[in-house]
Amino acid sequence: MGFKTDAIHAGQEPDPSTGAVTVPIYQTSTYVQEGLGKHKGFEYARTQNPTRMALERNMAVLERGVAGYAFASGMAATTALTQLLLKQGDHAICSDNVYGGTFRLFDKIVRHYGVEFTYVDTSVLTNIEKAVRPNTRMVFIETPTNPLMSITDIRGVCEIAHRRDCRVVVDNTFMSPYYQRPIELGADIVVHSTTKYLNGHSDSVGGVAVLKRKEDAEQLQFIQNAAGGILSPFDSWLVLRGIKTLPVRMEAHNVNGMAMAKHLSERKDVRKVYYPGLPNHPGHELAKKQMSGFGGMIAFELGDLDRARKFLERVRLCSLGESLGGVETLISHPATMTHASVPPDERNRLGITDGLVRFSVGIEDIDDLIADVDAAFL
Ligand SMILES: Cc1ncc(COP(=O)(O)O)c(C=O)c1O
Repeated sequence: MGFKTDAIHAGQEPDPSTGAVTVPIYQTSTYVQEGLGKHKGFEYARTQNPTRMALERNMAVLERGVAGYAFASGMAATTALTQLLLKQGDHAICSDNVYGGTFRLFDKIVRHYGVEFTYVDTSVLTNIEKAVRPNTRMVFIETPTNPLMSITDIRGVCEIAHRRDCRVVVDNTFMSPYYQRPIELGADIVVHSTTKYLNGHSDSVGGVAVLKRKEDAEQLQFIQNAAGGILSPFDSWLVLRGIKTLPVRMEAHNVNGMAMAKHLSERKDVRKVYYPGLPNHPGHELAKKQMSGFGGMIAFELGDLDRARKFLERVRLCSLGESLGGVETLISHPATMTHASVPPDERNRLGITDGLVRFSVGIEDIDDLIADVDAAFL
């Protein structure tokens, strides 16, 4: 089926007992069994929940994997992937400007289990070639990156990693499967914070991982149950509902994102705009090849903290807040918010300066958003 049809129907049949059109919220912790070992395939809700499983089937179809597993947050999903792929003595490579929380997980927690990480600019493939070691088991990339929108060649990374026994994980949160499907480009695993575009309404925190290989899927299912970081039935239902409108929302984010990026780049007080849809973005040509839209995430440079602070305090319609991917426009300051856990020297080296502002452009009327931005500059 087409993507829009799958977004609405894949993995979800009308409820067998009532015919309800939407999958019910199965708010239960356990299931009655007819006798010892006799049940309907549902024993305990950490292990199986029909609402969560509908979301997992839906995401597996949208991301073109064999199975998906939903977790209590994007970070819980990434944690489970480190449990799947890494053990003591292993080495992993990671994009050097991933979401700050991903870096924090790897650097402050997983590293202490005897796993070594190398952080490189994965938009340059030779950096990955040079970093690979015989014990490298995972390459974790985010493309576009948060917040600088740098683009990594997913196919190119997979070619390098797959010469060895090394899995490629792509954080696809910024694009969603509507605009980018990493498994089709060769990746082994896709991870999402469903908190963002998939749910799309800023009212749920969750995560999902979709896998290409059956053996990885079976092992991740084991980890999901054993470690227990599952998504709740209500949040699963919210994300399922959000995904039904993912295609129309993404198209609207894309139109507004492009218009806002163009507008910002025409303003003299904006020093630099990072948006892969602009022809002067270094990843523009690659973005056109591996993505089918550019989305609604933009970063722009205002020069210093004082200018950034004034701008962030003056906007009215755009809300100052930490998240992204909702229907409403959110604006944030990566250096003190999402990337505060990255050491200041490293932030400056990456370009996450004190003057950098990140925009998650929503789907409001673009004229209202532009008027709000222009008023904040006055
Ligand atoms: C790209 C990206 N990946 C992962 C995460 C973590 O997701 P969550 O906040 O749902 O744990 C975030 C959160 O902002 C993110 O932006």
